[in-house]
Amino acid sequence: MKPVSIRVKLTAWYVLVFSVVLACFCVSIYVMMERKLLRSVDHRLQTMAELISKTELCVVPNFLPPDFERRLNRIFGTRPVGKFIRVLDLSGEIGSRTDNLDDTKIPVNKKLVREVVSTGKIIFETQYPLGRDMPIRFINFPVVDFRSHKVRGVVQVGTSLEFVRESMRNLLVVFFVLGPSLLFVAAVVGFFLAGKALKPIREISQTTRHITVNNLDERITVPVTRDDIGQLAATINGMLDRLSLSFQKITQFTADASHELRTPLTIMQGELEIALRGERSVDEYLETLGSCLEEVERMATIVNDLLLLSKSDMGQEVLNFEPVDMQLMVNNLLSHFQILADEHQINLGSDVDEVETIYGDQLRLRQMLVNLLSNAIRYTPAGGRIRVSLKNVENGIEVAVADTGIGIPEDAIPRIFDRFYRADKARSRQYGGSGLGLSIVKWIVEAHNGSISVDSIVGEGSVFRVFLPTGEHEPAGGASSMSIVS
Ligand SMILES: Nc1ncnc2c1ncn2[C@@H]1O[C@H](COP(=O)(O)OP(=O)(O)OP(=O)(O)O)[C@@H](O)[C@H]1O
Ligand SMILES: [Mg+2]
Repeated sequence: MKPVSIRVKLTAWYVLVFSVVLACFCVSIYVMMERKLLRSVDHRLQTMAELISKTELCVVPNFLPPDFERRLNRIFGTRPVGKFIRVLDLSGEIGSRTDNLDDTKIPVNKKLVREVVSTGKIIFETQYPLGRDMPIRFINFPVVDFRSHKVRGVVQVGTSLEFVRESMRNLLVVFFVLGPSLLFVAAVVGFFLAGKALKPIREISQTTRHITVNNLDERITVPVTRDDIGQLAATINGMLDRLSLSFQKITQFTADASHELRTPLTIMQGELEIALRGERSVDEYLETLGSCLEEVERMATIVNDLLLLSKSDMGQEVLNFEPVDMQLMVNNLLSHFQILADEHQINLGSDVDEVETIYGDQLRLRQMLVNLLSNAIRYTPAGGRIRVSLKNVENGIEVAVADTGIGIPEDAIPRIFDRFYRADKARSRQYGGSGLGLSIVKWIVEAHNGSISVDSIVGEGSVFRVFLPTGEHEPAGGASSMSIVS
């Protein structure tokens, strides 16, 4: 089934609401009008009844004046056409009546007459006489003796409600003609207005539809009015900005990864081609194979690092949290790195306090320290110093690796945790670095709800400080903030 457009839905709702309002309006007008007309009929009947009750016609109710009509004419100055008038005694018996009541068999509601007599109140009633399709409105007006103040009889004056009925019928006709026409106009206007209101949304969806990876820099024109639609456009543009940035980073990442892997492959290819050009001695072959193995190891490291990073991006890298004795771990590592430091003629010192046990993944924390120490050794020239310290701080512990190495330029510091970023590409690659070590460090630290900071001065050295919280806690879910798009 074809989905119904918002425009049609809006119009339908508009017409529905409008028709309900219109119906309510018509009903209230109808009811008010009917009441008003009836009230004016009642008013006229009351005036007449009051007039009659004060005349000699009502002095002796049981007296049947033969010239009732004539006397009425005299009272009103004209013949009260269409009025049914009769004078009743206290029991409801008819004393006098107009001729038109002779052929219309309108019974006297004696119960009502008695009520008028006993209470002295004016009571209106609508009668539906047999054989007449129009109801008759009657007033039952008490005739009060002005001396004794007692009710002496009742004057009934009636009139056909034909005029009221006719007026109401005419009003209904107006409603039935005008109502649908108004609804039609409302539907047309509603459809037009909905279309006008939704036009910017159509434009937004048209523009959005043709944005692909090839034109991710295209943006929606944001309307000047900062209304809901303006905000929607701005939000989509914001999303496109982020997508474009992510895409750029992914493209950059793929290019960097390919480049990193191509370098060792090119080296290996060169070495193998040279080796195959002619017959070589065993030593030469061994040298070539050794060099190839080095490149293969380098590639394996890159691939392993990338695998770890992509797994952590997808949240697939499971960390096994357990109590970790950092003091023991640092001391262990120091003894291993001592050999390497000696090889590079670097003085490796430590300042390890007894610290609180932390909760974390033993293997990953070790990997973090290895990466930091490797960097310190890699980027510190012979004769330099490296100092590893461990101490308790508020709510956690701090591991710091300080070196007197080459340092990091200020503008490079914010980027050193990016994947494949190296402050000094040539130098770093010469040492076998691919720029993934600190990305992994950052991920590990964040997965442990910790933080890392760097202080560095070019030519003087760098300090990497890692804060790790103590107390039992879960691995951070947002550890993937080190993702390419971080
Ligand atoms: N202690 C340090 N002193 C000076 N520069 C450093 C230090 N540690 C890191 N850097 C700079 O930060 C960059 C990124 O470091 P990172 O550990 O991520 O990559 P890498 O050491 O080049 O390669 P690898 O993936 O093998 O670790 C390095 O290339 C280097 O320029
Ligand atoms: Mg490194």
